[in-house]
Amino acid sequence: MTYNFDDPIERKGSQCIKYDAVGDFLGSDDLIPMWVADMDFRTPPFVMEALRKRLEHEVMGYPVRPEGFFNSIIDWNRRNHQWEVGRKWITFSPGVVPAVNMAVLAYTEPGDSIITQPPVYFPFFTAVKDHGRKLLYNQLILKNGRLCMDFDDLEKKASAGAKMIIISSPHNPGGSVWTQSELSRLAEICLKYKVLMVSDEIHCDLVYQPYKHIPLASLSPKIAAQTVTTIAPSKTFNLSGLSTAAVIISDEILRKKFTQVMEHLHIGGGSIMGNIALEAAYTGGDDWSKQLMAYLGKNLDFLEKYLEEKIHCVKMIRPEATFLVWLDCKGLNLPEDELKNFFLNTAKLGLNPGVMFGPGGEGYMRMNIGCTLATLNKALDQLRDAVDELGLGNRK
Ligand SMILES: Cc1ncc(COP(=O)(O)O)c(C=O)c1O
Repeated sequence: MTYNFDDPIERKGSQCIKYDAVGDFLGSDDLIPMWVADMDFRTPPFVMEALRKRLEHEVMGYPVRPEGFFNSIIDWNRRNHQWEVGRKWITFSPGVVPAVNMAVLAYTEPGDSIITQPPVYFPFFTAVKDHGRKLLYNQLILKNGRLCMDFDDLEKKASAGAKMIIISSPHNPGGSVWTQSELSRLAEICLKYKVLMVSDEIHCDLVYQPYKHIPLASLSPKIAAQTVTTIAPSKTFNLSGLSTAAVIISDEILRKKFTQVMEHLHIGGGSIMGNIALEAAYTGGDDWSKQLMAYLGKNLDFLEKYLEEKIHCVKMIRPEATFLVWLDCKGLNLPEDELKNFFLNTAKLGLNPGVMFGPGGEGYMRMNIGCTLATLNKALDQLRDAVDELGLGNRK
């Protein structure tokens, strides 16, 4: 089946945060929303069909996760990531961010140090700080147009007694797909200093050719035993509103600690529609994800060419994964507040300011290209006109 990602759908009025709460979050409604990380594409028909089928049964009582839920996760990871996940290793979370927070609660104490790698997905910072843990920055470094890890600095922080590291793999917002050698080096340091690795792999199925996602825990049983992996179908299949993620922990003691926190919070039940969607997505989603990545790849090529030809002062860090693009806007020469206002009020585009992602985000904006090519084209025309208004003379 061929999926049509060009077909527009009106999202306004569908109780979605991206369109319906954009004014509350960004301060303006009159813009093209390219911020929060969901896509403007329809959730795939095979997922919608499974949901509709369940709706025909008119009782929405407490759910239980069937074996098919677990098997779909095992088979998806075997097929797509060559990762053999044990049935017992899989537990649940109502989202990846809740899972990261539960991991912080389960494995660390107030006052403990936890490493993050900014610029990075900002809820990692609050997951550390809101629970009274100490936030350490192992800053990523831009090398040849790619955000890379700084292992010397990581070793300093790990050896100083950090208890945990939270990584985004692939990386949001930089789009780096961590290589086997990068992950091995990171794991080597973390094993040496007993730093627990929390690997947020929510973007693992959104990888562009020729890159390949490697699950951190797939590197070796020893690494798996010190790793908590979080995955979800939510980004790839556009079903974030169904609040369903999986947490994979091979070590029995670590797993027990995690599930205890979840039980204490009484959030392990999940939602029946989320369970059904996850199973349907991981069972029937191979073709969809390939076609999605081909479409997003074309959007990316279009964006790159457009910037090169018409907006020289904005440069993109070409992502190896994700529909999120890290735009270097330093060429606009605007202080942070003015940069944000320029995108909102002059270009009328709702992007995430880079500073939200911590140190290293200064002068950057994050653009969500999970939209139709027509929307992306319109957005770039608006940006080009706004840059012209600044008098930077970028038009060729
Ligand atoms: C790296 C990363 N982790 C987690 C999430 C959100 O996860 P959830 O909605 O399952 O809490 C996002 C969403 O943008 C993300 O980029």
